[in-house]
Amino acid sequence: MEHLSNEKKFKRSLVTSALPYANGPLHIGHLAGVYIPADIYVRFLRMNKEDVIFIGGSDEHGVPITIKALQEGVTPQEIVDRYHTIIKKSFEEFGISFDIYSRTSNKIHHETASEFFRKMYDAGQFIEKVSQQYYDEERGQFLADRYITGTCPHCNYEKAYGDQCEKCGTSLNATDLINPVSVLSGNSPILKDTRHWFLPLDEYEPWLKEWILEGHKDDWKTNVYGQCKSWLDQGLQPRAVTRDLNWGVKVPVEGADGKVLYVWFDAPIGYISATKELTPHWEKYWKDPQTRLIHFIGKDNIVFHCIIFPAMLRAEGTFILPDNVPAFEFLNLEGDKISTSRNWAVWLHEYLVDFPGKQDVLRYVLTSNAPEAKDNDFTWKDFQSRNNNELVAILGNFVNRTMVLTHKFFNGIVPEKGALQISDKETLDAMKKFPDRIAGSLRNFRFRESLAEFMNLARLGNKYLTENEPWKTFPADPGRTGTILNISLQICAQLSIVGEPFLPFSSEKIRKMLNLPAITWDKATRLEWLVAGNPLNPADYVFEKIDDAQIEAQVQRLLDTKKNNESAVAEAAASLPLKPAKPEITYEDFSKMDIRVATILEAEKIPKTTKLMKLKVDTGLDQRTLVAGIAEHFEPSQVIGRKICILANLESRKLKGIESQGMILMAEDAGGMLFFVSTVPEAENGSTVK
Ligand code: 2FM
Ligand code: ZN
Repeated sequence: MEHLSNEKKFKRSLVTSALPYANGPLHIGHLAGVYIPADIYVRFLRMNKEDVIFIGGSDEHGVPITIKALQEGVTPQEIVDRYHTIIKKSFEEFGISFDIYSRTSNKIHHETASEFFRKMYDAGQFIEKVSQQYYDEERGQFLADRYITGTCPHCNYEKAYGDQCEKCGTSLNATDLINPVSVLSGNSPILKDTRHWFLPLDEYEPWLKEWILEGHKDDWKTNVYGQCKSWLDQGLQPRAVTRDLNWGVKVPVEGADGKVLYVWFDAPIGYISATKELTPHWEKYWKDPQTRLIHFIGKDNIVFHCIIFPAMLRAEGTFILPDNVPAFEFLNLEGDKISTSRNWAVWLHEYLVDFPGKQDVLRYVLTSNAPEAKDNDFTWKDFQSRNNNELVAILGNFVNRTMVLTHKFFNGIVPEKGALQISDKETLDAMKKFPDRIAGSLRNFRFRESLAEFMNLARLGNKYLTENEPWKTFPADPGRTGTILNISLQICAQLSIVGEPFLPFSSEKIRKMLNLPAITWDKATRLEWLVAGNPLNPADYVFEKIDDAQIEAQVQRLLDTKKNNESAVAEAAASLPLKPAKPEITYEDFSKMDIRVATILEAEKIPKTTKLMKLKVDTGLDQRTLVAGIAEHFEPSQVIGRKICILANLESRKLKGIESQGMILMAEDAGGMLFFVSTVPEAENGSTVK
């Protein structure tokens, strides 16, 4: 692989993993997509005696944290203190072996981020722009997008946010909202001038194109490279790196009161501040080109780590750039997107209550099913079967049989290895190949493949034991039994060595049973770790079966969550106020409307839109085309043949290039559900409605 040879030029590695927002606990998606792969990788490098440091920390700034504080009536600091503690504990419990787990509310981080900005500012690397933004006069505060709600101009949903309508998904500017309201005071905000600093990303575009599109075509993962290419092909725009907010790193410029660095400006600098906090030699990790910088992240972070942060690092001028950014896709849960607000998640702290001591089982399942190249699904059934059919039946069973047999036939003392038969030699030869194969996959960030190889070693052990049947040879030839068990024990030892990055808790357990010290990767092909005559410790189970009842309880919990969510949505919809009555009109006004019965003849969704459907209807008078916003609610097959009512004399209008000749009448409830205004089948097309 190309970057294997590349690696030789590096003396050390600096591995970072995305700093999680300290506004909620961790779930399996976090572990699967960032922290487990990063941890496996780092453990592997450490076992290779490489100079590596592994950086983590909480991302404690940004608007969602201040909103959560507001909702709970506490300070943002209280929110981040609470979640930083919970998150840090989860990482420790799952064996994520950071060299430091820091946080961005630390003084050292504020100083580092502030200096970084100031250096760029002094070098004239920002553009200053004045723009108009919403301001809450009562609170004397500019309003970040999430602090403003209003009516969505696309779907009329009344609680759309200043950056997005959560009902129709459209991304918005705060000024697009109809009737904007400040979340802080409930008042209508005014527009007021505000000055901000922008990073002119467009100026870095040629350099980024060369660095990424030419320099990293072969060694970055396809998903990462593809996303970068698409951003770069679209063309980059200057991006604001400051915000009007009172939580974050203060903008270190005179006259910037009430302004902080944009959270995505300060968060990646958090990797640098954490390194400073860890070691006085931090500069060798950040400034020596012989350091290999690797960012482990989720796919939603790609643009920040591959485009914006590198542009910042280049602008600052004294730092190295990432050599690789292995980004993972997302993990879904039982077919649905993981969601904190819908409580659709497996929370790490809850998992450990239900499955105490089973950290490695989750590490194993999340690695074998890692969303490496595409989104993947976690299901409890799969969790159970991987535990029972792989960890217990293959790995655990092999180690246990070997230990129990050695205790039974040799009182727990490592037996001598005598003359070797063909099957012994073949097995020993096969064993020699595993460490390199596993290492090759790991160095290329192919974690699923490397774990599968590791399990193949356990399979080799099982096959060897089963085929050689040491329990049968004992009465006639105890020496043969000794040889088979000696080799089996060596396989157990090798499993504990090459399995350490994936399953650190179980590896340690196996090592302890075998009475072995920690062994480094360079000794992973030695095959003679256990010395004849040395005592073993008692046999113990490394893994145990998970029964159906435990799995059913988890599935039931999720079903309950789904049910609660559905009834909450229904309740919320039912409690929404109806739209107020409209002012009175005359009969004459009404009689101008030509409402007719019609039948839908044809229907198709309009490509590249989410809501629009093109309909051909028979109005009795003619056949015509209508464009209706019903595609999110109905499939074409559900509407063809329906008797409906239409407003036939509405002036025609072009939507997505299609002329809509009239409008179909729909009833919309307060929750946004749509229903056809229909009539009985006997009503002929063209009948008038009055
Ligand atoms: O997406 C997130 O959860 C961010 N908090 C990640 C930040 S990574 C880094 F830049 F700090
Ligand atoms: Zn909307």
